[in-house]
Amino acid sequence: MNVLLLYFSGTGITRYYSSLIEEEFKKRGHNCQTLDIEELTDLPLLWQRRPVALSYTIRAESRRPLSKFPWPYYDLPMALKYAREIPEFNILKSDWSRYDLIGFGSPVYAFRPAPVMIRFMLDLPRFEKEIPVFSFATHDGAQGDFEAFMKLSLAKKGLNHIGHLDQSFIYSAAAVMRSKMNHVKSGKLLIKKSEAARNKIAHFIERIESDPVGRVVPFRARDILSKIIGIPYRFFYSYGIDFMLNYTLFGFGINKEDCVQCMTCVRQCPQGLIELDKDDYPIRYYHCMYCLRCLNWCPTNALYFSPTTQGKARFPGPEILLEAAERYDEKHKRKKNSNS
Ligand SMILES: Cc1cc2nc3c(=O)[nH]c(=O)nc-3n(C[C@H](O)[C@H](O)[C@H](O)COP(=O)(O)O)c2cc1C
Ligand code: SF4
Ligand code: SF4
Repeated sequence: MNVLLLYFSGTGITRYYSSLIEEEFKKRGHNCQTLDIEELTDLPLLWQRRPVALSYTIRAESRRPLSKFPWPYYDLPMALKYAREIPEFNILKSDWSRYDLIGFGSPVYAFRPAPVMIRFMLDLPRFEKEIPVFSFATHDGAQGDFEAFMKLSLAKKGLNHIGHLDQSFIYSAAAVMRSKMNHVKSGKLLIKKSEAARNKIAHFIERIESDPVGRVVPFRARDILSKIIGIPYRFFYSYGIDFMLNYTLFGFGINKEDCVQCMTCVRQCPQGLIELDKDDYPIRYYHCMYCLRCLNWCPTNALYFSPTTQGKARFPGPEILLEAAERYDEKHKRKKNSNS
């Protein structure tokens, strides 16, 4: 099989998940290529021409407007309803009809796909043949309508959605509200979750190999107890995340004395929403999708979204966490060897 994986990743977890999927396809003798949609297209330009946003951002913009200018956000259902080909907007020229299977991946934001991923999918040209496609997500246990939105968006391009893969790894959004983040502990958690992810991926690919166009039945825990425990967990999340997004994460503040004007935040914003003010300090005039990349990647921790994120931990990305866990294990192995 010739497989393509297209993904968006805010802080690196979905990118890491794509690499695990790619690894498994290759292990089983398939061709597999992974592409970050930000390398394929000018994502900020694509998004700014027809901005689509999650309802929490739209709610925030009406409750606490950051700008005096109206911003023509579409919410996800509206973007799907009014999705249509506009050739002059179509900056995605690639036709991937040569692939036998395509995966589309995104983090879950407020129970839905990242708005920039939806924009990307809706702006794809219609494919010449009906290719089987699947969606994949990384999240923290509460996917909500994610799969349904991916399926609807892909159907607009005439693609045949055959299944969905997902994995909960680490809740990157929680890091920015904690005073510290233990890299070794998080790295070990990531390693443990990766094992579960690999098993799930292998099962998923096996099903596709046996019937490449048939619907893949998702691999879910059958344990009744875990299902019962899952009910309050999901309930907590649906309210917890909504509360967090609406009351603790919104805004854009900068400690000017800490900013070294390196432009990292400006370059990293997938929605192209960070600009420089008259004194060359970053400013964001509108609410964004809150992927947290600018906050996490600022080298001097000068940015904050609300008082709850000021001076708090940052999520460094999966590679740094994995490296910390490996280094810790190596050190302990050496210590053990020298003692014995
Ligand atoms: C703004 C925001 C909203 C989120 N909403 C949800 C959610 O509704 N459900 C969930 O399970 N995880 C949620 N998460 C967690 C992310 O889906 C998870 O950390 C994901 O793996 C991040 O992937 P990335 O590093 O590729 O961006 C949210 C994270 C952020 C930043
Ligand atoms: S990334 Fe941080 S230091 Fe660099 S310009 Fe942005 S706020 Fe300033
Ligand atoms: S402003 Fe920051 S959090 Fe918002 S979309 Fe841009 S990079 Fe992500």
